[in-house]
Amino acid sequence: MKDSVHFCSVIVLPKIHNRAGNITAIENQVHAPFDIKRVYYLYDVPGGADRGGHAHLKLHQFIIAVSGSFDVLLDDSINKRTVHLDRPYIGLHILPGNWRELLNFSSGAICLVLASEVYDETDYIRDYQDFKKFKLQ
Ligand code: TYD
Repeated sequence: MKDSVHFCSVIVLPKIHNRAGNITAIENQVHAPFDIKRVYYLYDVPGGADRGGHAHLKLHQFIIAVSGSFDVLLDDSINKRTVHLDRPYIGLHILPGNWRELLNFSSGAICLVLASEVYDETDYIRDYQDFKKFKLQ
């Protein structure tokens, strides 16, 4: 299954270090493995809140904890995998066809998301039972 959780890769980005701090740059098709059409970020996430809780039909995402940390639970309907993100130079590429939940946000965490498409509600599967049925097709 080429959209399995095991094909969602953790990518280490370059870190340019100097005494006044670090820079990480992400370039289209170089570090993010798709054309980036949208950037958004989650912030002020209350303690204990869960985000995500959906799958996408076509959307690729590249997720980075640019500040703080959180867990990403991935589920392809057969396999589950949890990835802990806690470094601004490490990203997770989430393939379409994977259910995802974002959990255990640290206080002040910022989750940066690079996405392969503009926002489209019709690309979402928001019900887990619908997701299971979709994966059986
Ligand atoms: P949603 O993707 O459900 O958030 P999360 O998965 O992080 O819990 O989006 C929450 C709301 O924000 C929903 O009403 C759609 C809106 N939204 C946009 O308008 N544009 C966007 O790019 C995103 C990601 C969400």
